[in-house]
Amino acid sequence: MYEKPLIKVEPPGPEARKFMKKHHELIMTSTHDPEYLPLVIERAVGVWFVDVDGNVYLDFTSAIAVNNLGYPTHPEIARAVTEQLSILAHAAGTDFYNPYQVSLAELLVSIAPGEFGKKVFFSNSGTEANEAAIKIARYSTNRKYFISFIGSFHGRTMGSLGLTASKPVHKKRYYMWMPGVYHVPYPNPYRNPWGIDGYEHPDELVNRVLDYIEYWVFEHQIPAEEVAAIFFEPVQGEGGYVVPPKNFFQQLKKLADKYGILLADDEVQMGMGRTGKMFAIEHFEVSPDIITLAKALTAGTIPLGATIFRKDLDLEPGAHSNTFGGHALAAIAAAKAIEVTRKLLPHVSELEKLFFERLAPLKEKYPKVGDVRGLGLAWGVEFVKDRKTKEHDAKTRNRVVYEALRRGLVLLGCGKSSIRLIPPIVITEEQAKIGLDIFEEAVKAAH
Ligand SMILES: Cc1ncc(COP(=O)(O)O)c(C=O)c1O
Repeated sequence: MYEKPLIKVEPPGPEARKFMKKHHELIMTSTHDPEYLPLVIERAVGVWFVDVDGNVYLDFTSAIAVNNLGYPTHPEIARAVTEQLSILAHAAGTDFYNPYQVSLAELLVSIAPGEFGKKVFFSNSGTEANEAAIKIARYSTNRKYFISFIGSFHGRTMGSLGLTASKPVHKKRYYMWMPGVYHVPYPNPYRNPWGIDGYEHPDELVNRVLDYIEYWVFEHQIPAEEVAAIFFEPVQGEGGYVVPPKNFFQQLKKLADKYGILLADDEVQMGMGRTGKMFAIEHFEVSPDIITLAKALTAGTIPLGATIFRKDLDLEPGAHSNTFGGHALAAIAAAKAIEVTRKLLPHVSELEKLFFERLAPLKEKYPKVGDVRGLGLAWGVEFVKDRKTKEHDAKTRNRVVYEALRRGLVLLGCGKSSIRLIPPIVITEEQAKIGLDIFEEAVKAAH
């Protein structure tokens, strides 16, 4: 195990350059950033990445909120999955029955918020979990429309892409994606269309958003009675790690109940202990009708998505299915990941204090740090050119990502000019302090 980062050669080193070149020749262009994040990972252990040139980095990304329990996987999950591999792996879980998916479903419905009967659909990714949620909402209500929030990310397949509204490049030239989605402003306390300081005046911000839905959408565009569900992220992830006011979801639930609209809570990025609760929505004390999970559900061991929903919303046979859902290895991995994560929740809440203490003062010390927000081990820092105008400063953000990398800390951007700080939740206080020190050095250097 490593104790601190070790940079032997400025990234990208000669080996990294070789692999990056080949990668871009052979693999479809995606979201890599060869300029600011030239990282070629050869192996990973605990909270550390080792690149192909032998550099050692501390990871503050959890490989996009997936490897919450460290690398390459948590030893208890490795043990359980290895054992299961000689018993049953792929099991055509939507056609044949198997006990492993039943046990996992039992566990998921028991921990998901809501004192009502629930069922689960298993898939392979976040977007697929949301596709199932879309179908469940439309089928069970026989309604057409959806409400979703500006800044949200729900996936990139044509259904979930309709819900997504975080960057235009996600939609460029793909029209048409699923129609019938109406996007409304998210209650972003720092940056919203009304210029309200949502930290100082949370109720005013919440009321504006709810008014927007009721007046500008329901009274001008679509009948509320034809809206199937409101999709939301309890904390916006790709959109910038934005934490809404505490009472927002309770008010949203009241509005949804008034019109018989379902609440679909996308926990793909924030679920599984990331915020210090198993489900981020638990901070807001609301029970959604549908919850989607993926990413950290098996802590990065085997891909798995899950859609947990109110039992009475169930479909008829054949209305939705897939091949790999209910995969026995994935089910075993998820059950173990939940067991380990549960024990770590107090640790995440404890580290929240450290992150707050270390990150909040950056707003006073560095003029380009516009906002700092977070819960548990899900923190966002937003960079601006000017505090007053709040003009986004993506260049400084990217520079911070690179300055951190060359000092041995891996970070990922999000939103238009933010950085997310989301280490594996198994990180120790000492390791977290190392990362936070490097982060501040990088912010300073970028200034
Ligand atoms: C909140 C949220 N929903 C859905 C998705 C899509 O998940 P996937 O990439 O597994 O399809 C993501 C991915 O980042 C996400 O953050």
